[in-house]
Amino acid sequence: MIMTEKLIKAREYEEHKEKTISKEQRPLFHLTPRCGWMNDPNGFCFYKGSYHLFYQYYPYDTIWGPMHWGHAKSRDLISWEYLPAALAPDEDYDKDGCFSGSALALEDGRHLLVYTGVRKERDENGEEKETQTQCIALGDGINYEKYSGNPVITSDLLPKGAGKVDFRDPKIFRENGRYSIVVGNKTEDKDGQLLRFSSGDALNWSYDGLLIKNGLRYGIMWECPDYFTLDGRQVLLVSPQDMQAQGFDFHSGNGTLCLIGAEDDSGCFKGEHFQTIDHGMDFYAPQTVLAEDGRRIMIGWLQNWDTLAYKREDLQWFGQMSLPREISIKDDRLIQRPVSELENYYGKSISRQGILLEESTSFPGIKGRCLDMTLTIRSAEPGLSYRRFEIRFAQKGSTYSSIEYDPEENTVRADRSHSGSRRAILHERTCRVSDRKGTITLRLILDRFSAELFLNEGEQVMSMTVLTDKEAEEITFITSGKALMDVTMHELGRQVE
Ligand code: FRU
Repeated sequence: MIMTEKLIKAREYEEHKEKTISKEQRPLFHLTPRCGWMNDPNGFCFYKGSYHLFYQYYPYDTIWGPMHWGHAKSRDLISWEYLPAALAPDEDYDKDGCFSGSALALEDGRHLLVYTGVRKERDENGEEKETQTQCIALGDGINYEKYSGNPVITSDLLPKGAGKVDFRDPKIFRENGRYSIVVGNKTEDKDGQLLRFSSGDALNWSYDGLLIKNGLRYGIMWECPDYFTLDGRQVLLVSPQDMQAQGFDFHSGNGTLCLIGAEDDSGCFKGEHFQTIDHGMDFYAPQTVLAEDGRRIMIGWLQNWDTLAYKREDLQWFGQMSLPREISIKDDRLIQRPVSELENYYGKSISRQGILLEESTSFPGIKGRCLDMTLTIRSAEPGLSYRRFEIRFAQKGSTYSSIEYDPEENTVRADRSHSGSRRAILHERTCRVSDRKGTITLRLILDRFSAELFLNEGEQVMSMTVLTDKEAEEITFITSGKALMDVTMHELGRQVE
């Protein structure tokens, strides 16, 4: 393979720069960019015995820049090993960025990446014009060569009314012996839609039809689609831009949406159930992989475009991946659970049942910043004997983040306003949980720079970055009224070197 200067430069740079970042300056078990900037997960797949994960990557700074594809692999989705950058924006058709996409193992053993090539040029009036096309690279799990026939899907294939600028984030899959790609598109009249293309050889593509039109129901443009069957249902994941809040269900800004439904005879997908994937401040652009054992595993960018100002200037990376989650469907809803591989990293554990909580309490041994803690809270007396439960974590002095449960309203609020941020940006969000008469199960997973909360066995999830100094490791439980608590806490870190 002949490597371009841009790719050689990126690979040399990241190899050198990675050595200047100590392990303590990174999360313990969440993937961060080898250096510089990371956004969306790309090309999440299982190939030659390992999970491969690529990501939107700008190695040279901690801000977004011309997109490369970073690359890492893992055997267990928890410990990741960096591989050299896979793609650089080094061809005429992708000179302004290799945007998000997906991957698939071909039958001949080659690994295929499909991504969006971005190219900007000035038209005759001097105005900047951007084109987005779908491109392919083929490789062996380390080195990738861009296909000589690129771009393989251009705006020439687009149907009437489709916009030519916003046409990105191809998700490839194989079905009934043929390859399919689903791509996001913004129409000329500014609505989001997903278009479907198909191919017999994964290189020559034709337009197949509309998969679904947003109809301005959930934001405008739909980014980063994923489309698969799960528990006998057809599922579509998308990340809508410019959402408007609807009750507690959908918040404003960049959001995530899961549609559960079915395809009609013409191949159009009809969503029957709509659900926010993550109710926290920081989760976007999730992608899934089908594991060898049949589990469908989802990973997302543990960040949001609207919260980039919550940042630590002393770190030489920006952006991290969520913990991978096993997903399933129960009662027409998406359920998410941390991958079970996390349990292999449990260290010291503490478990206490039926603790009576009144006002503010902490317990010896229940503290730390890398842990997996499950709490069940319930009334101490018949009826509702408490009005509020709060757990404060990453706490030191007046600095803390918190999770607050209101058993009357059935709401949970995640709040990092007091985590040390000096920016006036979004720091709290609330979601509704099922009514269990004052009983709730909270599973809180902390890493050095994040908190992920799984509510009631994964019915809702709230994720956020928490950038408080690592010395802040106290945990306090606060109630108004009397509540009973069962708690099990596992320290994390045993096998992560
Ligand atoms: C989503 C996104 C994608 C695009 C990529 C660019 O976060 O905007 O639509 O491919 O990021 O980095």
